[in-house]
Amino acid sequence: MENNNKAEQKKRILSGIQPSGALTLGNYVGALRNWVQLQKEDIYESYYMIADLHAITVRQEPAALRKNCMDLLAIFLACGLDGEKEPIFFQSHVPAHTQLGWVLDCNTYMGELSRMTQFKDKSRKHADNINAGLFTYPSLMAADILLYQADLVPVGKDQKQHLELTRDLANRFNNAYSETFKVPEPYIPKVGAKIMSLQEPTQKMSKSDPNENSYILLLDPIDKAVKKIKRAVTDSGSEVCMGEGKEGIENLMSIYSAMTGKTMDEITVEFQGKGYGDFKSAVAESVTETLKPIQERYADLMKNKDYLESIYKRGAEQANYTARKTISKVYRKVGFIQP
Ligand code: TYM
Repeated sequence: MENNNKAEQKKRILSGIQPSGALTLGNYVGALRNWVQLQKEDIYESYYMIADLHAITVRQEPAALRKNCMDLLAIFLACGLDGEKEPIFFQSHVPAHTQLGWVLDCNTYMGELSRMTQFKDKSRKHADNINAGLFTYPSLMAADILLYQADLVPVGKDQKQHLELTRDLANRFNNAYSETFKVPEPYIPKVGAKIMSLQEPTQKMSKSDPNENSYILLLDPIDKAVKKIKRAVTDSGSEVCMGEGKEGIENLMSIYSAMTGKTMDEITVEFQGKGYGDFKSAVAESVTETLKPIQERYADLMKNKDYLESIYKRGAEQANYTARKTISKVYRKVGFIQP
C-alpha cells in the first residue's frame, strides 16, 4: 500500500520506439540511453512501449514485424531498462491506445496533421502508400502519452513537433471537457538529440537510409561499426571542434560525448593538436565499449523467450491498469453511456 502511494506521487514518463527495423545509434543516443538514466534516478514512474501500432503505417512483413518486436524488447532490456521494476509493453496489447486515438482524431484538425514533417517525409518515401493511418499517426502518439498522464516524454529532436501537438490536444480537450489530461513536457537531451548521418552529416541518421555506411546499428558487428566510423565524412580541416562546415566532426563529437559523458569543450581540449585519425579511433573505441555489452546481453536474452514473454505480459497488465482509468474518464466526459 505504501509502495502504491509512493508510485502515485512520482512523476510519470512515457516513451516508445517503433519496431520498424533495426535500431540505430541515433535511437540509442537520442532516446534509449536517456530512458535508462532516468529510470536509474528513481524519481519517475516510467512506461516504455514498443509502438507496433505505429509501425504498420508503413507496410510491414508480418513475420519480420514479429521478429522486430521481440528484438526491440530484448534490446530495451539489454540497454539496461528494468522490465521487472517498471512496465515495458507492446502498444497493441493495450486497447485503450486505439480507443483514445479515435477520440483525439475527432479533436485534431486536418491542417495540424498536414503540417507534420514526419508525415511529409514518410509520404515522400512511401509515395505508393500514403494511408490514413500515416496521416493520423500524431493523434495516436498523443493518445499514447496522454493515456498515462505522463509528465515527461524523453525523445529525440525529430519528435518535438509531435510533442507540441500532443500538448495542444491535451489543452484543447481539457478546455472543452474539463481537466482530464496532464500536459506533458518533452525531454530532449542537450547533446545527441539529433545524431546525423555519417555520410551526409546534414541529414538525420536513419535506418531507412539506403547507404548503410550512413548509420550504425546497435546490433552491427563491432568491426563493421568501427569501419563505418573510420569512413565517416569529415572536412578538409584538421581541428576537432564545432563550427561552420564542421557538421561531420561535430556529429562524431556528439557521439563521443554521449558514449563517454565528456562535454564538447573537454573533447576539443583532449584532441588539440591531434588529427582526425586519432579522434576517429577514440570515437570507435567508445562506441565499441558501449555496444559490446549490449550485444552480449541481447544474445543471452534472445535465448530466453519465456523470460521475455513474462516481461511483456507483466508490462501489458500494468499498462492496461493505468490506461483503463484514463479511457473510462474520457468516455464519460465525451458523453458515452457507461457499459
Ligand atoms: P522512432 O521509432 O522513429 O524513434 C525512436 C526514438 O529515437 C529517436 N531518434 C533519434 N534521436 C537522435 N538522433 C537520431 N538520428 C534519431 N533517430 C531517432 C526519436 O526521436 C525517438 O525518440 N513516433 C515515435 C514513436 C512513438 C512515441 C510515442 C515516442 C510512438 N508513440 C509516444 C514517444 C511517445 C517514433 O517514430 O520514434
